[in-house]
Amino acid sequence: MKKTLSLILASSIGLMSLFGCAVPSGTGAAAGQGANAQAAEGSEGAKGSGEVLVMATNAEFPPYEFYDGNTIVGIDAEIAQAIAEDMGMTLKIEDMAFDSVIASVQTGKADIGVAGLTVTEDRLQNVNFSDSYADSSQMIIVAEGSEVDEPDDLEGRTIGVQLGTTGDIYAEDIEDATIERYNKGMEAIQALSQGKIDAVIIDREPAKVFVSQNTGIRMLDEEFTVEEYAIAVAKDNEELLTKINKSIASLKSSGKLQEIVDKYITAE
Ligand code: ARG
Repeated sequence: MKKTLSLILASSIGLMSLFGCAVPSGTGAAAGQGANAQAAEGSEGAKGSGEVLVMATNAEFPPYEFYDGNTIVGIDAEIAQAIAEDMGMTLKIEDMAFDSVIASVQTGKADIGVAGLTVTEDRLQNVNFSDSYADSSQMIIVAEGSEVDEPDDLEGRTIGVQLGTTGDIYAEDIEDATIERYNKGMEAIQALSQGKIDAVIIDREPAKVFVSQNTGIRMLDEEFTVEEYAIAVAKDNEELLTKINKSIASLKSSGKLQEIVDKYITAE
């Protein structure tokens, strides 16, 4: 049977906070886990005031998280940095496979998951989500000259996705489609450029970046799905969730959030 995935709207995200139980937050995850840990602002090791806030991400997702040299930068990295500062904490970023991000929050290896994470009902079984900080959509990328012109044309095609993403989940609903799962979105794009697959389903802003960096491919106009990004927090860490929501609200009202977005995304 095909998996039906329903998107959670902002209203239900609000309701979610009714379910968690109020447990004092622990000291957070131990610093230094994972192979690719990065302290904020390129400092040697996490230093600064207060506790360390460990962020799990998958830095293969421009403009939200990607490498600039050895440093992870992007909208999510800067939002998390601003939130950490607001809470008087020091941010430490851990890069990992995308499909480990939720699990590492769930098991307490990381305090927060910030990875262009779409809020879904399935994920809400395992973690809580903050208020949303960005809208997104899944988009379809095809080779120039492809017969695929709209979502319906994907039937029976070979579709590339990043493993464990909503693109992966939604692709399962396409009739007779063959899904090729890659560890990185960029690898799916490369397979498309080489004619190995017919289309890639991926989030809008990364799609734009990948299309701009590669010739011979284009993004279809029609959105495949509409979604919202939020920060994942462990179910038993209601206190941290509340603090994060407060910080998000103040980043929104001060204009800082928009400032960060504008730094990475040029308005059309
Ligand atoms: N929004 C999609 C999802 O939540 C894709 C996120 C991919 N993020 C990343 N950092 N690679 O499944």
